[in-house]
Amino acid sequence: MKENNVPIQNESGNYLPERRITGVGASPRKSGNSDILMKHILGGAKGSGVAVEDVHLRDYQFQPCIGCEKCRKDKICTGLNDGMHLLYPKIIDSQGLVLISPTHNYNVTAWMKAFIDRLYCFYIFDNNCPRGWSSRLAGQGRKAVLVAVCEQETKKDMGFTLEAMRLPLEALEYEITGELTVFRVFGRGKVKDEEEVLARASNLGAALADSLRT
Ligand SMILES: Cc1cc2nc3c(=O)[nH]c(=O)nc-3n(C[C@H](O)[C@H](O)[C@H](O)COP(=O)(O)O)c2cc1C
Repeated sequence: MKENNVPIQNESGNYLPERRITGVGASPRKSGNSDILMKHILGGAKGSGVAVEDVHLRDYQFQPCIGCEKCRKDKICTGLNDGMHLLYPKIIDSQGLVLISPTHNYNVTAWMKAFIDRLYCFYIFDNNCPRGWSSRLAGQGRKAVLVAVCEQETKKDMGFTLEAMRLPLEALEYEITGELTVFRVFGRGKVKDEEEVLARASNLGAALADSLRT
């Protein structure tokens, strides 16, 4: 619930999310494996009666964080005026989050890395060195599911893909309710043939939806 498109905050300045899920996909490929996994996860969540929305970072024009630190004072990114400002309200308003990235060179894609760095504005830092920190998104029952998909066969081949999403989201005080790693999938949309994987994706979405407060 918002007035003039400004998310509602409580007296501590924290945002109050709604029982909805935003899925953020980081593949450059339209109709690729990440897109199909997203459809199944959000389909499972929708089946549990939660509003869902998918966004694909390739459709947004946004830059990586430039480290201007203006967000310290402004509490949201004011150093860059770009497509990320279409995504902030979705993140703030959604209690549930799904992040999906294919592995690119043992890590998340450049889109996912840039997106995660732009969540820096949600940290509250103190003035010590190194700075102590907390999250503006903490204490709001936020939960997330993480998915990584790659061509090769082992965790080593997938590299840091999952960790690169998990560590920052945990730091922002999301509870990770489920993770899915998908191996041996290369061609565009080939994950369609993996019935068991798609069923697991759908179950993860349903479990995430069920875990959100009513
Ligand atoms: C630039 C690039 C780098 C990649 N690096 C890796 C890698 O390090 N390990 C791996 O197993 N697969 C790698 N892959 C393969 C993709 O992870 C794989 O094709 C995946 O299914 C793509 O998902 P998508 O269809 O959602 O884009 C790479 C693909 C590209 C285009």
